[in-house]
Amino acid sequence: MEKPARVVLEERDAAGLLRQTSVSHIGFSVPDVMATADFYGRVLGLVVQGHLPDGGVRLGWGIGHHVVELVKGEPALQHYGFEVRDDDGVEGIAKRLAATSHVVEDLARDYIDCAPGSPSGIVVRDPDGTPVHFHGPVERQGENAADTGRRPIKFQHTTLGTADVQAMVSFFVNTVGFRISDQLEDGRFAWLRSNRDHHTLAVVNVGRSGVLDHYSYDLAEWEDFKTWCDRLTDAGIDVTWGPGRHGPGNNLFIFFDDPAGTHVELSAEMEKFHDDRVTYVARQWKPIPNSVNLWGGQLPTWRKTSQEG
Ligand SMILES: [Fe+2]
Repeated sequence: MEKPARVVLEERDAAGLLRQTSVSHIGFSVPDVMATADFYGRVLGLVVQGHLPDGGVRLGWGIGHHVVELVKGEPALQHYGFEVRDDDGVEGIAKRLAATSHVVEDLARDYIDCAPGSPSGIVVRDPDGTPVHFHGPVERQGENAADTGRRPIKFQHTTLGTADVQAMVSFFVNTVGFRISDQLEDGRFAWLRSNRDHHTLAVVNVGRSGVLDHYSYDLAEWEDFKTWCDRLTDAGIDVTWGPGRHGPGNNLFIFFDDPAGTHVELSAEMEKFHDDRVTYVARQWKPIPNSVNLWGGQLPTWRKTSQEG
């Protein structure tokens, strides 16, 4: 096979302005809302926190922001969101988006379901046309905690599938303020950070735009993976990929599918970046299966790398 060209994804302008921004929530459509909500309740301990007028539901843990919003429809990504805890964070993002001719709208108040003192937010469409929410700090209670084996610690990252990695990376890095932690050297996969975690967002070329490749929850430690694999097996749910360890991020992982076929990852031990103490240059991993799984290189059935051997 001919070797794909090297593509160096660039950092400039706003790169690195966000240091305390994490994923907040994700919304997708599924054919059967209640069956999917029931699945997330049984498997991840997410409970219904609110009903939407069109039959959708919001799921979460504890008190704060919902994690998942399910609406009825063919499986598709509807929106995804970030909680921006940086000073001048949401305002700064809004200014940079406006200066680069993006249409920025206020986030509907009903998206911030943690009254009183709820933060405000904005909505903008990413280069693929998917709405992205950025909102201020949420007062959370009981959300980021593990009940080992029963629920993950937190929602940790979103990985988007796109046909144009460069455009998505440029938007998030050079305008919004993320940084590039790692990329595949062919430019078809990039991992972006907005806090000390190696990535809160990743972007992979899947040949189509506006797709959710997968999203990921954190477990506490390696020991938990055994419990979760047994627990998923007891519930009749196949582990579809892993256990493995990613090269970029160095995190342990397993994957399974929800009833709508959405790929869900459980992860732990993600590499930490301390940008205030050291200078980093994004690494460029070979686009081979062993990069995305250090333990033997097998890939998930739904994804390929450009060099399979
Ligand atoms: Fe992931």
